Amino acid sequence: MAATDLERVSSAEPEPRSLSLGGHVGFDSLPDQLVSKSVTQGFSFNILCVGETGIGKSTLMNTLFNTTFETEEASHHEACVRLRPQTYDLQESNVHLKLTIVDAVGFGDQINKDESYRPIVDYIDAQFENYLQEELKIRRSLFDYHDTRIHVCLYFITPTGHSLKSLDLVTMKKLDSKVNIIPIIAKADTISKSELHKFKIKIMGELVSNGVQIYQFPTDDEAVAEINAVMNAHLPFAVVGSTEEVKVGNKLVRARQYPWGVVQVENENHCDFVKLREMLIRVNMEDLREQTHSRHYELYRRCKLEEMGFQDSDGDSQPFSLQETYEAKRKEFLSELQRKEEEMRQMFVNKVKETELELKEKERELHEKFEHLKRVHQEEKRKVEEKRRELEEETNAFNRRKAAVEALQSQALHATSQQPLRKDKDKKN
Ligand code: GTP
Ligand code: MG
Repeated sequence: MAATDLERVSSAEPEPRSLSLGGHVGFDSLPDQLVSKSVTQGFSFNILCVGETGIGKSTLMNTLFNTTFETEEASHHEACVRLRPQTYDLQESNVHLKLTIVDAVGFGDQINKDESYRPIVDYIDAQFENYLQEELKIRRSLFDYHDTRIHVCLYFITPTGHSLKSLDLVTMKKLDSKVNIIPIIAKADTISKSELHKFKIKIMGELVSNGVQIYQFPTDDEAVAEINAVMNAHLPFAVVGSTEEVKVGNKLVRARQYPWGVVQVENENHCDFVKLREMLIRVNMEDLREQTHSRHYELYRRCKLEEMGFQDSDGDSQPFSLQETYEAKRKEFLSELQRKEEEMRQMFVNKVKETELELKEKERELHEKFEHLKRVHQEEKRKVEEKRRELEEETNAFNRRKAAVEALQSQALHATSQQPLRKDKDKKN
């Protein structure tokens, strides 16, 4: 059973009855009201130009909108690709268009081009994110929100006549789920007609074999189905850009003048510029805006909300309420926080224990060292004491000997002093 049938059965709503009106009521003016409202509100359209430096991006934009957007020449020495958005207010009749042209400055200039696509992808995602954030606000103002989501990416292919560069394939592959890509062969006046025909076939073949999804002009609206189907077969458009006016016959036309002739930008025999302008601006601008919202943004939004834990239904196909999801997420967050806290606490306790052990070990080592030094000191002291005692004994012995010698000396002295006296007595007698 299809999902819509299921919904009908479960809600068990009766089919609305068809009634005919007795006279004119006036709600047939609804489409006009819509148009009037949209015109008052104005439109925004955002074009991303991706292509090598000097491939003719700015010239083509000027040619497409028949004006001169202030653009400076890009540097060839950027360290990485930089996205430069510029917004303009344009008016045609009473329709206001807020046009943003985003230039991928420095694309293809780096020696290592592996990551060239990343700033572009990041930029596109950032615009989706801004819109999503606005949508999720409690007080959102999508009515006057400046929508910067990229509606179309004009991918400028260098007219080599050979095949697509791997940089082109990789970049388009990375972008195709995020933006409507219209590939165009730039500077188509530098390639011959037969080469161009073969080049177009080759490019389309390579895009298909590498699974790159480019934007297809829609064929479900009867009013434009035929023209769009024909134009889909002309992709990629081979364009020439110029803002220079050249006199052809008695008319001034935008063209590029060469010594051998004039390439007219708006001549369909010379290039596909008119086809591109028709398809991009006059026929499919609204579809590009719509596809951006309903396909690319929707995909981004779905992935992002799923990442945040939101689902439309649980495992048993029960619709999920926002409140329940929020509660579940909150609980999950709190338990995760608790787990982290416990982990940190445990880590802290372990660290303290480790430090304590280290300190104890250090203390033990110090104690041992102290004991050893004490023992060494006592041994030294004992030896010194022994030496002192020996010295004392020696001194005593010496003193004794000295005293004995002195006694002997005084005895001897005494004896010698007595001898002359006796001799004198003997003589007198
Ligand atoms: P950066 O912004 O510096 O990356 O360059 P760009 O891609 O904007 O190229 P730009 O429009 O500045 O053109 C670079 C040069 O190419 C200029 O001299 C243009 O006149 C020339 N040019 C632009 N379009 C075409 C074209 O369709 N055919 C030829 N032959 N030259 C073109
Ligand atoms: Mg430029």
